[in-house]
Amino acid sequence: MLIKSKKGWEIPEREATPQEIFFNRRRFLKTTGLVLASAASMGLGACDGEAEESGAGAGASGTSSDPTADLYPVTRNERYMIERELTPKSISSTYNNFYEFGSHKRIYDKAQELKIRPWQVVIDGEVNNPETLDIDTLIRAMPLEERLYRHRCVEAWSMTVPWSGFALKELVKRADPKSSARYVRMETFQDPDMASGQRQYWYPWPYVEGLTMEEATNDLAFMVTGVYGEPLPKQYGAPIRLAVPWKYGFKSIKSIVRFTFTSQRPVSFWEEINPQEYGFWANVNPEVPHPRWSQATEEVLGTGKRVPTQLFNGYGEYVAGLYKDMQDKPIYF
Ligand code: MTE
Repeated sequence: MLIKSKKGWEIPEREATPQEIFFNRRRFLKTTGLVLASAASMGLGACDGEAEESGAGAGASGTSSDPTADLYPVTRNERYMIERELTPKSISSTYNNFYEFGSHKRIYDKAQELKIRPWQVVIDGEVNNPETLDIDTLIRAMPLEERLYRHRCVEAWSMTVPWSGFALKELVKRADPKSSARYVRMETFQDPDMASGQRQYWYPWPYVEGLTMEEATNDLAFMVTGVYGEPLPKQYGAPIRLAVPWKYGFKSIKSIVRFTFTSQRPVSFWEEINPQEYGFWANVNPEVPHPRWSQATEEVLGTGKRVPTQLFNGYGEYVAGLYKDMQDKPIYF
């Protein structure tokens, strides 16, 4: 699908390359068997999983029996139109990072072991309305919409996805934070019996991410509960994940069970593993290379084409103001 609307993040070049060609290239660092200590020294990091061959096009989803299936598709929010073709579902659903199910890209099969009902979400910390909510109650209470967002992995590949969900600021409003709350800390489930990747004891499970309150209440910060007009398939981080498209993909935490409002800046999963390579802010910036590779360009999944990367992944008009006083500091990135 091609959406035409001129915006700051436009990248005019578009060229199709068969996905078999793209997927037949083994591009990523092999990471299996490393302990956490050596992980940092050897450079293990977010999105470093090996791209395995074959399997493209399987696109497992199986969401028709989802208790919220009747809610989808939802109406598209036209504010966030894009000038890029959507990444085919067969590609984005079979090329995932979800370390809870393995440190490679072909976890979609393994991820089907994720049990997404019953699923409870805890909202706690510095809030006036702490609560534990059943996921279906939460999803049904929120104003759902569709947003076409670009996703830019720190590993220098990108995709464009039609997420469904609600603005994170709606959840913040419901929680009614106290003035002492400066950050939202988000946490993924922890169940090593179910998620074999969590038996890799050298990782600091559970996966944790965080945003400042200003970031969390920016309209672009989106809680994802569906994709391609259906409930979210497990490999994307069902039943609820974050999408913050101006930041590198590792900030977009999957399968969230807890939102904690806090005065302390959370230490995220990858930051704990390797703070030199993965900062808290992680705003997309083509001018600041990752210590082990350039961020100047990105490979658009499914096209084989490299295009220039945009500051804030092209979303500067919405989010640059959040960082205007920080531009001389390394933590800006
Ligand atoms: N969340 C959890 N819980 N576990 C993960 O391994 N990987 C992150 C992010 N969220 C990850 C996660 C990374 S590195 C990326 S690039 C995106 O999820 C990938 O999202 P996708 O599989 O939908 O493309």
